[in-house]
Parts: sequence; C-alpha cells; structure tokens
Amino acid sequence: MKKVYLETYGCQMNVSDSERVSTALARDGFEMIDDESDADVVLINTCSVREKAEQKLYTQVGRLRHRKHRKKPIIGVLGCVAQLEGETLFERSPGINFVLGTRAVGRVSDTLKQALGGRNRIADLGERADDYDWTVADTHRHSPYVAFVPIIEGCNKFCTYCIVPFARGRERSLPASEIVRQVLDLRRSGVREVHLIGQNVNSYRPDSDSGLEMFGGRSPFSRLLRAVAATGIERVKFTTSFPRDFTDDIIDAIDSNENLCNWVHLPVQSGSDRVLRSMKRGHTVDRYKRIIDKLKASDRDIAITTDIIVGFPGESEKDFAETVKLVEYCGFDSSYIFKYSPRPGTPAFEMEDDVTPAEKTIRFLELENVQKRVQSQRLSRYPGKVLKVLAEGRSTRTENGISGHSTCHKVVNFLGGDEHLGKVVDVRVKEIKANSLFGEII
Ligand code: 5AD
Ligand code: SF4
Repeated sequence: MKKVYLETYGCQMNVSDSERVSTALARDGFEMIDDESDADVVLINTCSVREKAEQKLYTQVGRLRHRKHRKKPIIGVLGCVAQLEGETLFERSPGINFVLGTRAVGRVSDTLKQALGGRNRIADLGERADDYDWTVADTHRHSPYVAFVPIIEGCNKFCTYCIVPFARGRERSLPASEIVRQVLDLRRSGVREVHLIGQNVNSYRPDSDSGLEMFGGRSPFSRLLRAVAATGIERVKFTTSFPRDFTDDIIDAIDSNENLCNWVHLPVQSGSDRVLRSMKRGHTVDRYKRIIDKLKASDRDIAITTDIIVGFPGESEKDFAETVKLVEYCGFDSSYIFKYSPRPGTPAFEMEDDVTPAEKTIRFLELENVQKRVQSQRLSRYPGKVLKVLAEGRSTRTENGISGHSTCHKVVNFLGGDEHLGKVVDVRVKEIKANSLFGEII
C-alpha cells in the first residue's frame, strides 16, 4: 500500500478539494498519512492568490528534493498554481512528477497510478467529469463536526488584482437538490455545522431552480439559504460574499432562520471609490456602507468580517485615509489585511505598481492598528454575554482546554472535557484575547 501525504494551502475550496482527493485515494487503495517523512507520494494542493502563497510550492518541492531520505517521493502538484502554470512547472521546479489543475482533481487516483508506473511529467488541466462525486467520506473531513459544502465554483468577476477567475474558471453552481442531499447526509452522520462555500456564494445560480422557488426570497442564493436551513442542520455559515451581489433578502433569510448563523464575511478591499473603480469591484463605498447599516440593524447581532488590500497601484495617501475611515465606520469584528501582490496575467499586473514596498508595509501596519482598536471596542460588548459554542477540539494551549466557534464565528476557548466535544454548549465570556474569547460553560 503506497503512503500518500497531502499538504494543502489556500482557501476553504482547496481544503474541500483536498478532502475529496483523500476520500478518492483512500477508496482506491492508497494510505493517507500525517507524517511527510514516511511518504511514497507527496501531493501539494497549491494557492496562487499572492506571490508568497505561490512561493510555498517552490520552497516545499526544493526541500523535498534535497532532503536525505531513503527514497525521493513522487511529487504531484494540485490546485491553483497547477492550473495556471501547467507543464511549465516541470521546467521550473524539477522533481515534480505530475500536475493536476483545479477541476482535474477527480482523476487523482488514475494519474497517481500512472506516475507510480513510471510515467513522468503528466499534466491534466481538464474539466471535471459530469459525474464528479462531490461527497467527502466522514473520516476525511477536516473536522468531524464541521463540513464544507461547495455550492459554486469559479468566479466571473475579474477584479483587476485577482487570479481566481484564471485559476478556477467561470462560475458553475451545483444543483440545489445535490446540496440539500449532502447537508441531510452530513446531519445524519453527526455534523453540526455546514459552511456553504464558493469564491462568490451570493451569485449562486443553478441551471434549474426547481424546488427552490417554494422557499421565497428574490435571489437564488437566499432561497438556497432557506432550503438548507429547512434541513434542520444545527448551524449554517456561508463564505465568501461579494458586495455587489449581497442582496437584502440574504439578511431577511438570516433574520427568519435561527440556524443561519450571525456572521457575514464581506470583503470590501478598499475604502476609496477611485481605487474600487480601478479594482473593478462594481460597488461604491456608499453601497457597502448601506449593506453594513442593514446588517447592523438586524436583531441577530451579526458579526461582520472583511478583506482589505493596501498599496494597490495608484493608491494615494488620501485613498488610504479613506480606507482607514471606512474601517472605523464599519467596526469589523476582524479583517484580513493584505499588501497588494502583483499576479501575472491579471489586469492590475499591467498597472504601474507605484506604492513602494516600504509604503505598503507602513499602510499595512497602520491599518492593522486601526483594526485592533475598533476590534477591541467591538469585542468589548462580549464579556458577560452567553454564546452558543460548538466544541470542536482540544485546545493545545491549556490543559483541559476546549476550542470552538460561536455562531458569530469567534474562536472561543473554555475549560471542558471530552464529553463536550461535538456539542453546542453555552459559554459565558470572561475575557477578550487578541484573536479569541475565553469563557466558562454555564
Ligand atoms: N494581492 C493581495 N491580496 C489579494 N487578494 C486577492 N488577490 C490579491 C492580490 N493580488 C486578497 C483579497 C481577497 C483575499 C482572498 O485575498 O483581499 O479577498
Ligand atoms: Fe488560493 Fe484563490 Fe486558489 Fe483559493 S481560489 S487556493 S485563495 S488562489
């Protein structure tokens, strides 16, 4: 039995693809292992969203080739870098045996068998088969209690900085019936929380809406949310949202279904209309603020998180100051801040990257500080509050520590035992830490 080690970088879609890759390989007679040094085969599921993420692949392959090991492993590259670079990877990074694009992962077992049989330099950048199996075996999920359910893949937006539309192709929505069936199966096997995932979930648009109409709501995504809520699964989260497609009926669906969680991840990217135009985001600062206002007006106390890029080509001091102002206005529960990273092949790559690396760092640090300030203000309402927390695992930091997420997607740590794992427990918040909350079970 050949031993396979699979390493995953990037977003939830990659994690989800990896879960299906593990499921398929285990089914086809391979042994999935956790210790890379013991592996006959090393698979790397790659991300190309920023240069640093892409670099991880080259560092890892270099390390594998030069390590002192009884036998050099077969190396397979999957995911976004595989899709974008294809066969050029064989020249660029010798040691790679095969390359499987983002939609070719369903053929991993066959490809791997060919590579083990001595065939070298196999590249498959093809499409998913029509009968591609989207299910994940329980044992290959990243958590026994939380499951990722892809609802849409690809992206049609072409924001000027972003490689995703090239790495993951055009949007394709999964049939609602398939999604609902998966959630029902997951519920039966003990999963408490599903995350509906996609690069832009709000533009969910299945070929046929049949069955969804009865759930009400104007947009297909809001109807899907109501349909998934109706499965009775304990908690439903979804990510990532896109301001231009974020319609009010999504908030209405959250308001009227307790199991649709009170957390929205809505990347804004910039607080300057000029920069947003140059990014081709299709929304203004004003439109974004109106969504935030509506989210805040909900009785559900919805947590809002975001992504922001600093140092986009042409971003002036004034543009950046507007981003700072917007972060203060929105009071995000947390934000992921990134320095702009030029991605070959994207429209922004052709723009002059005129914000110096030093200036990008200064803006990054400044915005991080602003975020810390608004975050601690925003979190100050939690001490004394009781949150429903899904106990997901043992926390590595403290003895008897349990770690989980609240419905508002905060990491919450508390003291507990194995008997709590997989349960939703009431935790009273005692303390706010930098990126988590600490509390006690009541
Ligand atoms: N440079 C920096 N950050 C980027 N992101 C996407 N593309 C780039 C890029 N070229 C960020 C965006 C996106 C998040 C997943 O990554 O903020 O929302
Ligand atoms: Fe990275 Fe984007 Fe690909 Fe996800 S879709 S792995 S974030 S490049």
